[in-house]
Amino acid sequence: MDAAASSAQRLRQVRDLPCPRGLPLIGNLHQLNAPKLHRVLEQWAEELGTPYRFQIAFGEDPRTLEQERGVIQEHLAQIFPMLMHRVNAPFPYWRYVRLPRDRRTDRALAEVHRTIRGMMARSRERMRDEPSDAPRHLLEAMLALRDAPGSDVTDDIIAANVLTLLLAGEDTTANALAWSLYYLCADEPLQQRLASAAHAVLGVHTVCPDYGLVKDLDLFEAVCSETLRFRPVAAIMAFEPVENVQVSDVALPAGSKMFFLTRPPMLAARHYSQPGRFDPESWLRGHAGGDARVHDPRAWVQFGAGPRVCPGRHLAAMEMRLVLSTLMNRFKVKLAADPSTIEEITAFAMVPSRMPVRLALRPTVESFQPQTNQPGRD
Ligand code: HEM
Repeated sequence: MDAAASSAQRLRQVRDLPCPRGLPLIGNLHQLNAPKLHRVLEQWAEELGTPYRFQIAFGEDPRTLEQERGVIQEHLAQIFPMLMHRVNAPFPYWRYVRLPRDRRTDRALAEVHRTIRGMMARSRERMRDEPSDAPRHLLEAMLALRDAPGSDVTDDIIAANVLTLLLAGEDTTANALAWSLYYLCADEPLQQRLASAAHAVLGVHTVCPDYGLVKDLDLFEAVCSETLRFRPVAAIMAFEPVENVQVSDVALPAGSKMFFLTRPPMLAARHYSQPGRFDPESWLRGHAGGDARVHDPRAWVQFGAGPRVCPGRHLAAMEMRLVLSTLMNRFKVKLAADPSTIEEITAFAMVPSRMPVRLALRPTVESFQPQTNQPGRD
């Protein structure tokens, strides 16, 4: 047998992959608890090894639902759970009958679309009334492209891109910060180190006063990066090949739904010599001693990879640095709940069920400047 024939024999088809036991017709659907989806998938990965398959009649493309923000924020709570619900629905019932929750979502979506159209109209007015040689922001750049001769960009396309940016940028970063507080609350010495680092850069200023100083806030981004290793807000990444492909030793037909779990490799001993230890400083040490296993950032794919890598990753890093340094410069943080009651929820991003945190002014910095914030506020 030649090498090609032997490798063809080793190639597995999707049907050859291990699969959790399911029920007739609905497959594994009843086991896919949407708020705990990432945990269910991680559990199956442990039990079956990877890759594995599961069976479910996917109802719809998540994009049948559009999303929101701004006013938008208040609608997120409505829309994200519905998005998860529809992704996992056995069939797209909402095309035939609209339940009260579908109508609530419709209203939230309509509101979001109105908000975005308003943003677009305001930008257009400004472009007309205060012309500028170059676009002042991304929305203006998109509108200029739409208005260029021969352009096939439409207002709908721009609105969809605005939505993507708002959605992709908000919940991810906000919940990365929320999970970071969870670890900070449990680690007073780390809080102390961060307070000193923040004070060295911010001094009496409330927020980092100069763009050039942001680079001195590495430890704050490191805290978020390390947090995301344990609590990935992007816990599941979904892909669908547009043509037949081979991934590792598995043949995948075009259109196969693939889910990649990001946490298992980030907690694997082959990438981190002490994978269970919360160690933000390891992000600053890098490959100490030349041993990549000590800390292998390539296993950390919270922003994805390749051509569709998150375009907002640098903005997110900047936000993490600024928010945490602002907080740590002035306050001690304490969790106002039993940590064991805080659950992981798949709500598009993997978010904490809640994160009540008590802030207290740091005695060592109290004398810097009077604050409007009151100590002891939640
Ligand atoms: C902690 C914060 C964030 C995390 C963990 C995160 C994670 C991700 C991931 C995993 C993807 C998919 C990558 C892939 O398909 O390979 C993505 C895409 C995207 N992200 Fe982020 N993101 C964050 C913050 C942001 C911010 C602040 C923005 C912008 C304001 C943003 C905008 C986007 C957009 C527009 C896409 C779609 C890119 C495309 O499909 O070409 N993200 N992000």
